[in-house]
Amino acid sequence: MTETSGGTHLPGSFRIKHLANQLFGWSPNQPSAAQPPDIPHQRVVHLAVLDTFAVPILLLNAQRVVVEANLAAHELFGARLVNHDLAHSLRHPAALDAASAAIAEGRQSTTPITLLTPVTSYYELHALPVPPDRDAKVRAALILQDVTAAHHVEQMRADFVANVSHELRSPLAALTGFIETLKGPAKDDVAARARFLDIMEVEAHRMGRLIDDLLSLSRVEAKEHLRPKKPVDIAGLLARSRDVLGPRAAERGIPIELDCPPVLPQVAGDADQLYEVFHNLLDNALKYGPSGQPVTIRAQMVERIPEIGGQGLRVCVHNSGDPIAPEHLPRLTERFYRVDKARSRDIGGTGLGLAIVKHIVNRHRGRLSIESSAENGTSFCIYLAEFPKESAPVTQL
Ligand SMILES: Nc1ncnc2c1ncn2[C@@H]1O[C@H](COP(=O)(O)OP(=O)(O)OP(=O)(O)O)[C@@H](O)[C@H]1O
Ligand SMILES: [Mg+2]
Repeated sequence: MTETSGGTHLPGSFRIKHLANQLFGWSPNQPSAAQPPDIPHQRVVHLAVLDTFAVPILLLNAQRVVVEANLAAHELFGARLVNHDLAHSLRHPAALDAASAAIAEGRQSTTPITLLTPVTSYYELHALPVPPDRDAKVRAALILQDVTAAHHVEQMRADFVANVSHELRSPLAALTGFIETLKGPAKDDVAARARFLDIMEVEAHRMGRLIDDLLSLSRVEAKEHLRPKKPVDIAGLLARSRDVLGPRAAERGIPIELDCPPVLPQVAGDADQLYEVFHNLLDNALKYGPSGQPVTIRAQMVERIPEIGGQGLRVCVHNSGDPIAPEHLPRLTERFYRVDKARSRDIGGTGLGLAIVKHIVNRHRGRLSIESSAENGTSFCIYLAEFPKESAPVTQL
């Protein structure tokens, strides 16, 4: 439990105190003589005001029984909240201690608590003592501030750092091991040296790719709020992706089929970033699709972009082969998420490609949809808004 006192706290605590002043017309530190008279009408008004707040608020009497609770509190704890001991609804020892201390000792406190039902949520429980008023009923107020979103952000940050360290550690360990071997036991072994240097080259490239991807991701994130608005020729970008990855496709015997109408409107966007999107999607199709089976890139106009609205383009990259199981689909764009970690890592994947795709598409206020089934194979489709008509030149292939 973290104790708080006086007025020198975090802005959150300050707001809560301010809220208490607004709601009850007193400060927890004021002497009781300064309290406004408790008249029924005022009480009704106070309760109506309490209901307008989205934060759960509970008022307790001297026996720790909940005497009033606002709508948000009822939503969180259910209907059988009022007229029962707080422990009836909130089985959390630290929270109960905080409430008891506010009532018995007039101690104000802020306590982090976790509620497991209906879904795991994180709160800061602010316990405010209430000096006895005329009917001496309310002795403490509890305000639960939901900090779940901030908690998740912090968790994601910690996971991200752990993932990056883990991903860098394995190639680094391989490099360190080979350097030691080359300096010691394999010092004069020419054949071993050549073999080890090849492996070291692969590992060093893996580290380089990971760092490039991380930088790319952070660049995209930094600009995500700025929607790019330059006219972009999608057909040209698709042809460039096909040409750049052509040799890799040929190695696996995969023909790349580009199906693009001769006249295609331009989209509003950032050409370099959109190229990165198509390059990543095509790279995946070539890596995870079966060898010898074609990969298709299909671009077409759509009258209405699903869920977003407005005219635009749809570009789908399709490969056949084993489908991606449905439980993985919503997670594919998470950083470092790989369906088959070992396989993806063996073929040089860092698990950041689709995270980059998602952020670029978000920046363009576009849409990414993924479909995968045994009958139809796997398709990653991107929807992008058309460049505004009045100034849009048309690309002829
Ligand atoms: N076309 C596809 N077919 C089947 N699985 C796919 C396809 N595209 C992506 N995946 C799955 O999604 C995972 C995440 O893809 P993503 O592009 O983010 O990472 P990666 O390809 O492993 O690494 P990187 O793109 O950073 O080199 C892949 O590891 C793979 O399991
Ligand atoms: Mg990839």
